[in-house]
Amino acid sequence: MCRILFACLTVIGMTVTAHAQQKQNMNSIVSDQRILVVYFSATGTTAAVAEKVAAVTGGKLHALVPAQPYTRSDLDWTNAQSRSSLEMNNPKARPALEGATGEVADYAVIFLGYPIWWDMAPRIVNTFLESQDLRGKVVIPFATSGSSGIANSAAVLKKTYPEIKWENGRLLNHATENTIREWIEQLGY
Ligand SMILES: Cc1cc2nc3c(=O)[nH]c(=O)nc-3n(C[C@H](O)[C@H](O)[C@H](O)COP(=O)(O)O)c2cc1C
Repeated sequence: MCRILFACLTVIGMTVTAHAQQKQNMNSIVSDQRILVVYFSATGTTAAVAEKVAAVTGGKLHALVPAQPYTRSDLDWTNAQSRSSLEMNNPKARPALEGATGEVADYAVIFLGYPIWWDMAPRIVNTFLESQDLRGKVVIPFATSGSSGIANSAAVLKKTYPEIKWENGRLLNHATENTIREWIEQLGY
């Protein structure tokens, strides 16, 4: 009887230890791997979310700043001739970035935030991705939008840059730090 009880307690003990170890591994991924949070934001919504992602992960925040800032009329999606419409209609458009694009070499994990434009990532995100050696890096997309999901934009990025280790992206409209923390824990970062 005593032996059975001892065996049961040992199994329970091992299970609890394994669970704690798993949790510890998850936490140490966040603290051991240097995390970069890169984002583009034309009107501030994605910027606010990116700040929360950086706060939760302890990552370094880096804004992608267009060399030529987007004016209100540039962002007019009802005008087929506006700058954003012309860029999004041209798969080869690569709007220039202001200054340094950020040094990714030191980072193993990169969160990449952007607003959804025409169900895609704005072309300036491509400018960034093509300005860096991201082979083998883990890139985790997140986005804000009026209502569209992130699936199409993330799939297009994954197809265009297969050398990157893409994680599933997440739409973070109105996300709180708690929501973001839960998502990142689920990812294991
Ligand atoms: C040119 C343009 C195209 C957009 N296209 C979409 C779209 O396809 N689907 C959507 O839900 N929202 C769309 N939006 C809305 C933005 O994704 C949304 O307002 C986003 O949160 C803005 O982020 P930001 O403030 O960081 O720039 C578009 C906005 C702009 C300016």
